[in-house]
Amino acid sequence: NGELLPWQGEVNDVFSPICIQTKNGLQRKRIGSYPVGTEKESMEALDAAVNAYDNGRGEWPTMSVADRIACVESFTQKMISQKEIVVRLIMWEIGKSISDSEKEFDRTVEYIYATIEALKDLDRDSSRFQIEQGIIAQIRRSPLGVVLCMGPFNYPLNETFTTLIPALIMGNTLLFKPPKHGTLLHYPLLDAFRTSFPKGVVNTIYGRGNKIVPELMKSGKINVLTLIGSSRVADELKKLHPKVNRLRAILGLDAKNAAIITRDADLDLAVSETVLGSLSFNGQRCTAIKIVYVHRSLAQEFLQKLSQKVGQLKYGMPWEKGVFLTPLPEPNKPGYLKECLDDAKEKGAKIINPHGGESLESFFYPAIVYPINSQMKLYREEQFGPVIPVIPFDDLEEPINYLIESSHGQQVSVFSNNESVISSLITPLVNQVSRVNINCQCQRGPDTFPFTGRKDSAEGTLSVFDALRSFSIRSLVATKETDQNKK
Ligand code: G3H
Repeated sequence: NGELLPWQGEVNDVFSPICIQTKNGLQRKRIGSYPVGTEKESMEALDAAVNAYDNGRGEWPTMSVADRIACVESFTQKMISQKEIVVRLIMWEIGKSISDSEKEFDRTVEYIYATIEALKDLDRDSSRFQIEQGIIAQIRRSPLGVVLCMGPFNYPLNETFTTLIPALIMGNTLLFKPPKHGTLLHYPLLDAFRTSFPKGVVNTIYGRGNKIVPELMKSGKINVLTLIGSSRVADELKKLHPKVNRLRAILGLDAKNAAIITRDADLDLAVSETVLGSLSFNGQRCTAIKIVYVHRSLAQEFLQKLSQKVGQLKYGMPWEKGVFLTPLPEPNKPGYLKECLDDAKEKGAKIINPHGGESLESFFYPAIVYPINSQMKLYREEQFGPVIPVIPFDDLEEPINYLIESSHGQQVSVFSNNESVISSLITPLVNQVSRVNINCQCQRGPDTFPFTGRKDSAEGTLSVFDALRSFSIRSLVATKETDQNKK
C-alpha cells in the first residue's frame, strides 16, 4: 500500500548458486535474505490492491491512458537508473552469465516501451464508428480488477514484467510475488514502484508461496491469475478460487519442445542450433529443446558432432568472459537430473559425451543421452536442465505422433534442406504446437511476437498487443444519434 514495511519476523536466507570454498567444502554463498511474510501481510496487501481498485472507481483504473503511460515511463526511468545493481543481482541469484543478465534487463526495458507504443495504437483505435443507422459506437478497454502476478526464476525480471507491465498499464491493481530464486533483484525497484504509482496499485509480497498464495486465491478477490511456472501449480491454484469461472488466467507453463532432424538436414547447422536450443542458460528455459529426434541414418554422426560441440562450451563463473555453462540455482536440480540419467541408463541408454552428468554442488556438466525410449523419464518429463535426450527415428510419423500424444504444445524445431519435406511437415506441426522453427532453435523472442502454447503449455497469449488485450475487457459504448450529438 505504498509503504516499505519494517520487518522483524522470520527471514529466509538467499544462497547463490555461486559457491565458495569453506572448511566444510564447497558451499553456496549466502548473499542476502528476504522477509517470510505471513498470510496476515499478504491479506493486507490484497486489501490494499482491492481498495486501490475500488470496484473500478479508484484513482488508477479511472486515470486517463496518457497519465497511466506517464507513470509507467517515470517508473522505467527509475528502473534504468538501477540497471547495474539489478543486473548483478540477476547474475548472483540465478547464476546467469553477466552478458545474458544484461540482455534480460535490456529486453525488459524494450518490452515496456513497446507496450507503451502498442497501448497508444490501441487507444487510437477507439475512434467512433457507426454500427447501424442512427447509432454511433466507441470501443473502450477497461481493466479487470486485482491481478496476482508471479514470475519464474529463469527470467525473474523479463518474464515477470511481460505480464506485470501490461496488467498495470491497463488500469488493474497488483499483487506481485517475486520468485524464490530471484527475489533480491527486485529490491532496487521497490522504491521506483512506490514513487511512480498511486498507493496500493503495486503491492509486492514475500513469503512461502505454498502458504500465502492459496489463501489469496481462496479469498475470491483475485480477478486475474498470471503465472509463468508449472502446470501443476497453476491447476491447483485455479481450483482454490471460489468462483473459478470468474477468474481469468494468463499462464505460461511446462513445455517439452522437440527438435526433428530429418535425413536431409544440414548436420552442422542442426548441431549448433540444438546446442543453443538445449543448453542456453543450462537448459533452464521453457522454450528450450528438451528432446531431439534424429533420423537413424544420421544418428551416429549427429551424436559425435554434438558431443564435440558440447565439449567446446566454456564452463565457469557467470562473470567470466565467453562463459556458456554456469552453476544451477535450484539446489535439488542436480539430484533430479541424476535420477533421470540413472533411470535412462537402467533402461538401456548411454551417456555419450565425456564427463556428461558429472556434478559438484551447483555444477552439473551437460549430458547427451542416447537412445531414449518411451519407458524413460526423459521421454516425457520436462528436465529443465542441461540434459539432451536423443531418440532415433525411421519415419517422420514417429516424432509427429510424439507431439500428438504429448500433453505439451509449445514449440518444435525442424532441420531439413528438403523444401517438400518441410512443407509437408508444417501443417501437421502447427496443428500441435504454437510455433514451428525451420532450421533454427526454439525461442520466445522477439518478445513483441505472440507467445503461447497448446494443451497444458499455456493459457492466453502474450505479445505486446495480446497482453494488453488479455489484461482488459472490451466494452462498447453505443450512442443514439441526436441532432445535438451529430453536431
Ligand atoms: O523460459 C521461457 C522464456 O521466455 C524463454 O525466452 O526463448 O528468449 O530464452 P527465450
